[in-house]
Amino acid sequence: MDCCIVSALWCFTPLYFLIHLLCFIFADADFTLLWGSLLGHKPENKLKGLVAWVTGASSGIGEELACQLAKCGSRLILSARREAELKRVKQRCLECSDLQDKDILVLPLDLLERTSHEEKTKAVIQYFGRIDILINNGGRSQRSLCVETSVDVYQALMELNFLGTVSITKQVLPYMTQQGTGSIVTVSSVVGLAGAPLATGYSASKHALQGFFNSLRTELTDFPNILISTVCPGPVQSQIVQNAFTEEVNKPVAIAGNQEYKMPTSRCVHLMLVGIANGVKEMWIAQQPFLLFYYVWQYAPTFAWFITNKLGRKRVQNFKAGLDADSAYFTKPKTS
Ligand SMILES: NC(=O)c1ccc[n+]([C@@H]2O[C@H](COP(=O)([O-])OP(=O)(O)OC[C@H]3O[C@@H](n4cnc5c(N)ncnc54)[C@H](OP(=O)(O)O)[C@@H]3O)[C@@H](O)[C@H]2O)c1
Repeated sequence: MDCCIVSALWCFTPLYFLIHLLCFIFADADFTLLWGSLLGHKPENKLKGLVAWVTGASSGIGEELACQLAKCGSRLILSARREAELKRVKQRCLECSDLQDKDILVLPLDLLERTSHEEKTKAVIQYFGRIDILINNGGRSQRSLCVETSVDVYQALMELNFLGTVSITKQVLPYMTQQGTGSIVTVSSVVGLAGAPLATGYSASKHALQGFFNSLRTELTDFPNILISTVCPGPVQSQIVQNAFTEEVNKPVAIAGNQEYKMPTSRCVHLMLVGIANGVKEMWIAQQPFLLFYYVWQYAPTFAWFITNKLGRKRVQNFKAGLDADSAYFTKPKTS
């Protein structure tokens, strides 16, 4: 009998690892999230009727979040600075869902104007009476070398990505603790976990968010029905590069870059909603080979430094040569 168990273990253990290895090659998210998408709650069942506030809803990931949440039947608050774009997104949401005009509130908001956040939150409560999900998505990236970047850019990145997000969260959290339920979901990034060249300030702001929300979660153990979740996407199709900070606060990005190799926005957002529906606390969402990079950073940091230095050098060289930095890993540097 014992012999049979040992033989079975010898057979099934390698098979188990082989299956996981094969799955990993085709994976575009961490295994917890992928298991959730296979066997867990469906977003359309869990999120229907909930009130979801999305910041950065005027383009990219935020716009797609609004549309997919609308299809799930969530009522929405759409926030960003550009009101006309928010109205366009609202129209798109109404066209692709059963929601009615009154179910979507367009609420222009500047994350930098922290003194307005209390009043904006009260406006949401007055309109819907509650907030079930806050998705802290608004933010900007960076494309510049540290030595060439003004400290004002670092300040702007921290003010927007970190303090703006903290400020809205602090306004919404008391309503959630009063309700006893809710989800605060923050779009961080792979560079919130690892480092990357040309993004020293952006990466710092996302690391700050990771630290803030990981710590906040530990303060909320008396509220088991409040989810604090951070989402760490790799490259995703959006306007992020066009809108990135450069060496100076008001200097635009020279090359918008190739979006083709990036993950489709719809897939990233679908996985995010699966994560919210299943209470996933940290989501890693990226296509290969980026996903492999997360695992190497987590489980073999010394090796991760080695790879990051190799790839980083190439990325910096390409950036200095005036090539598209985002597709630097796929492009040969110009030879003069
Ligand atoms: N795309 C990626 O590869 C990727 C990867 C990892 C993480 N992320 C994160 O995903 C989030 C969404 O970015 P995205 O990729 O969808 O880029 P995006 O298309 O540029 O969207 C950024 C959003 O943030 C809003 N925003 C910018 N400044 C704001 C301010 N001062 N106040 C309020 N809203 C502001 C923008 O709206 P307005 O201009 O109308 O204000 C826009 O709706 C960001 O937090 C980003 O760091 C993106």
